[in-house]
Amino acid sequence: MKKLYGVLGNPIEHSMSPLIHNDAFKQNGIEGEYLPFLVEEEALKEAVNGLKAIGAGGFNITVPFKENVIPYLDELDPFAKEVGAVNTAVIKDGIIKGYNTDGPGFVKAIAPLLANQFAGRNVLIIGGGGAARGIYCAMAKTGIAQMDIANRTLSSAERIVADCHNGISSAVLSLVDAEKALANYDLIIQTTSVGLSSLHESPISLLGIKEKTVVCDIIYNPLKTAFLREAEENGAIIQTGVEMFVQQGALAFELWTGIKPDVERMKELVLEKLGG
Ligand code: ATR
Repeated sequence: MKKLYGVLGNPIEHSMSPLIHNDAFKQNGIEGEYLPFLVEEEALKEAVNGLKAIGAGGFNITVPFKENVIPYLDELDPFAKEVGAVNTAVIKDGIIKGYNTDGPGFVKAIAPLLANQFAGRNVLIIGGGGAARGIYCAMAKTGIAQMDIANRTLSSAERIVADCHNGISSAVLSLVDAEKALANYDLIIQTTSVGLSSLHESPISLLGIKEKTVVCDIIYNPLKTAFLREAEENGAIIQTGVEMFVQQGALAFELWTGIKPDVERMKELVLEKLGG
């Protein structure tokens, strides 16, 4: 009998997760079906319990429920607890356990561009929301030297540093101050929603970056944001949000099935769908 998997979110119709997971089930000969579920906030608890009741294998959680879902889970992986956000749940023997594969997915995605060398790098994260938090917490465990956060609201960035710094050195900057300090960084990570579904918006200007700075955006629609286009014009090495998206998906798939899926194939499917 097929096992049910899915993603809970609102909105959900543009999610690429069904595409990559259904293909990975087929590729690996697994009897699984992955569906998008549009859930209203007040029905989230019922949706989670319903999936447990019908014997689903697990599910993803996306915007805006990654934090709100936590009270409805039975157990939490230590990293998800540290981040305070869950994007993947595994249901086994009637127990729902929450994980966060966003941060680790980002680290896996960026490692090749840094030649797997995190030590000694200076990093700037732009944004202080849930995505920034997952990435900061995962990156803080890689041995990087300095990781600063720039955000419109300083207090949320300060909270991330206080909760997850793991002994690394971190400054909190305004967006304006970050623009003035860009030449200090080897890696710049854009995590805000500015630039999502827009070809012109960008949270900061990248005029001051060093050549060959690695610049990535976690947005993948549009594939090449205004932020990444400006980075490229200023000599950066860029990475789109597709890399992180497929890596977080691959880690979720592995938690559900114990199998490492073909990440390159996942990427090709998403790029084809995005028309890139
Ligand atoms: P996610 O879970 O995707 O990170 P989020 O928690 O809503 O989403 O965070 C959105 C991020 O985009 C935040 O860093 C937010 O800045 P604030 O913390 O100041 O709200 C940032 N953001 C959204 N709109 C912005 C704008 N117009 N200018 C600058 N930053 C913006």
